[in-house]
Amino acid sequence: MVLPRTRKGVVSLRITTFDEFREGISAYRLPRVLLAALELDLFTAVGDRSWTVDALSQELKVSKRGLSILCRNLAAAGVLNKKGPIYKNSRLGATALNGNHRTFRGGYLNLIRTHWGDWERLLESVRSGLPIDHDIPDTPDYRRQFTWAMHHRTLEIAPAIAAQLPMGRARTLLDLGGGPGTYAMAFLAKNPRLRATVCDREAALGVAKEIAATHKAGRRLSYLPLDFSKEPIPGTYDVIWYSNVLHIYSPEENQAIFRRAFAALAPGGRFILQDAFLHDREGLHPAEASLFAVSMLLFTIGGNTYSALETTKWLKEAGFVGIKAIPLKKGTEDWENGILEASIPAPGLKTNARRTQLRRN
Ligand SMILES: C[S@@+](CC[C@H](N)C(=O)[O-])C[C@H]1O[C@@H](n2cnc3c(N)ncnc32)[C@H](O)[C@@H]1O
Repeated sequence: MVLPRTRKGVVSLRITTFDEFREGISAYRLPRVLLAALELDLFTAVGDRSWTVDALSQELKVSKRGLSILCRNLAAAGVLNKKGPIYKNSRLGATALNGNHRTFRGGYLNLIRTHWGDWERLLESVRSGLPIDHDIPDTPDYRRQFTWAMHHRTLEIAPAIAAQLPMGRARTLLDLGGGPGTYAMAFLAKNPRLRATVCDREAALGVAKEIAATHKAGRRLSYLPLDFSKEPIPGTYDVIWYSNVLHIYSPEENQAIFRRAFAALAPGGRFILQDAFLHDREGLHPAEASLFAVSMLLFTIGGNTYSALETTKWLKEAGFVGIKAIPLKKGTEDWENGILEASIPAPGLKTNARRTQLRRN
């Protein structure tokens, strides 16, 4: 079951009073408690047993006093259960946070954990306008870890989203910047006559292959190693899925990628984009989309979050027609109102631009 997302409530803090400001800048406390638990691998150690603080402190080799205060706060947050002196894992602690459970989402948790230190360096990026580690190469090792993190991030929502995006008569789908191919696999599982291709860097495709090998539908998945920010996209597809890539690139880079996607789509084909779109005139909301731009400042050279309106304009300039937002059921979205669909004119269909031209002639 996909649970309703809570992010919006966490970040949509509006600050008008000094008290609210103080609360805002003290909001690191609970995250720091949760991260300390992850750093201790506490949920794995607790597993499915009951523990006193005494026994658990020996197991984790930490002080009894420190662990007692940490566990009390973890219980207050609901990620541990406490009954008198006894602590147990909550359902979440025993599954997604537990390294010994098959649903452990360690790759993604680890990525978030490392962001703590990165966000501490925000001012460096604000000053320079550059990512904090812009001279660190994108090594295969890093790419593998990041790709697993992306899989652990979307493995629950991808099937829910695929279920709401009918493929119609489409037979071929390209997951452009598909990383682990989690979305491609979800589309394949939902559409038995579809074949999909994941396009990404070699190291990411290695992870996609491992994941696909564990699914029957994985036999209908192919792999395309390519730098699509530099090279044209070979082949022709009925659908191109461009999820969580828009924010990595500058407007100009995205516009060039849109033109490549246009050239790689069959007549009547669809380009479906998923991202943290901003939806208000000033580009401030949703708050999560605004905050996500800060990550792009820290980690990319030209990335940002964009409004659905400006993205629509770039799509039109690339030649797409019929651009529309695709609403999803609340609680099943990757981002709030985060999907746009654009089409290639079907053969014989006169676009507005062509009709005007015909009338003038
Ligand atoms: C944030 S991840 C998104 C993964 C997946 N689409 C999703 O929504 O979960 C972005 C992916 O795009 C890939 N990517 C970005 N730029 C690329 C490029 N120029 N060529 C190939 N892959 C690229 C990255 O390697 C990464 O796997």
